[in-house]
Amino acid sequence: MRLSNLATDAILSYSAAMFDLKAYLAEQRRVVESALDEHMPTDTERPSVLHQAMRYCVFSEGKRIRPILCLATARAIDPNSQDALMPGLALEVFHSSTLVHDDLPAMDDDDMRRGQPAAHIQFGEANAILVGDALLTLAFEWLAQCTAPPPYLPGQFSMELAQAGGSHGVIAGQYEDLAAPMQTPNAALLDFIHLHKTAALIRAATRMGAIAARANSEELDACSLYGCNIGLAFQITDDILDETSDSETIGKPVGSDRKNNKLTYVSLHGLDSARQRAEQIIAEACDALDRLPGDTTPLLAIARYIVERTH
Ligand code: IPE
Ligand code: IPE
Ligand code: MG
Ligand code: MG
Ligand code: MG
Repeated sequence: MRLSNLATDAILSYSAAMFDLKAYLAEQRRVVESALDEHMPTDTERPSVLHQAMRYCVFSEGKRIRPILCLATARAIDPNSQDALMPGLALEVFHSSTLVHDDLPAMDDDDMRRGQPAAHIQFGEANAILVGDALLTLAFEWLAQCTAPPPYLPGQFSMELAQAGGSHGVIAGQYEDLAAPMQTPNAALLDFIHLHKTAALIRAATRMGAIAARANSEELDACSLYGCNIGLAFQITDDILDETSDSETIGKPVGSDRKNNKLTYVSLHGLDSARQRAEQIIAEACDALDRLPGDTTPLLAIARYIVERTH
């Protein structure tokens, strides 16, 4: 028994070591971007400036990690799953809407996003607000075309995105993120912010993939735990990169958090503790994957990528 466990571990770590994450991410990005191109309004549709601006924001250099996670989670439950792409696209346009609004002068006031001028710089502030609203609405238009399989409610995908993205999710996190500089810094507030502004949507990505693949409740719980933990680690890494990287590499300004006196893992706990915490959370995320029936190699590799990424 012990020997066979060891043998299984050895085979698993061998296949994880052989897995080419870079090629996998590039291929998945290609799939996601070509589907986005197919479904997004064309830039000649009236009002063309608005549609050009929507495409400008979506087709810039994004990592597409949320749709990729949605697809990879579905496959870790059912290798033949075909229904996670549209929910993945909805997650990506929703995420893009949050980036457009996050950069506005009234929020983080950042001029660069995904390696190019932010939407409010390129198209003006009023248009950037409209673009964010339009992308957010488009996400729900696409989800309205997706029916979740039983035992889930038919509208479960929209419910998941609304709960993760709304005033109990991303918006709650963004609200507290903006209010935090006026408050006494503390670890509980910081965790609230990161769990809401970032982990909620990443958790929704893994849940929506699981739901598309007809996960049972134990599998769905495991995907939630994995998603929540990698989501928190993702924002901790974002805090670290804001302090340690350069704007050409991350495609957005560095030092934005310091400029805005933001409460971050780096400002509260310091760089070393932030790195340690991210590692610890990633280990917890990976443990949850043991409860999934299929091949979790891509999800394990993505978890490592989330803390080791340079942009
Ligand atoms: C940036 O998200 C905003 C955060 C939640 C930290 P990403 O780092 O996923 O941005 P893109 O989509 O790759 O540009
Ligand atoms: C924002 O966090 C998370 C969102 C909901 C967009 P940040 O403000 O740290 O994201 P970046 O660093 O601007 O991408
Ligand atoms: Mg912000
Ligand atoms: Mg920001
Ligand atoms: Mg940041």
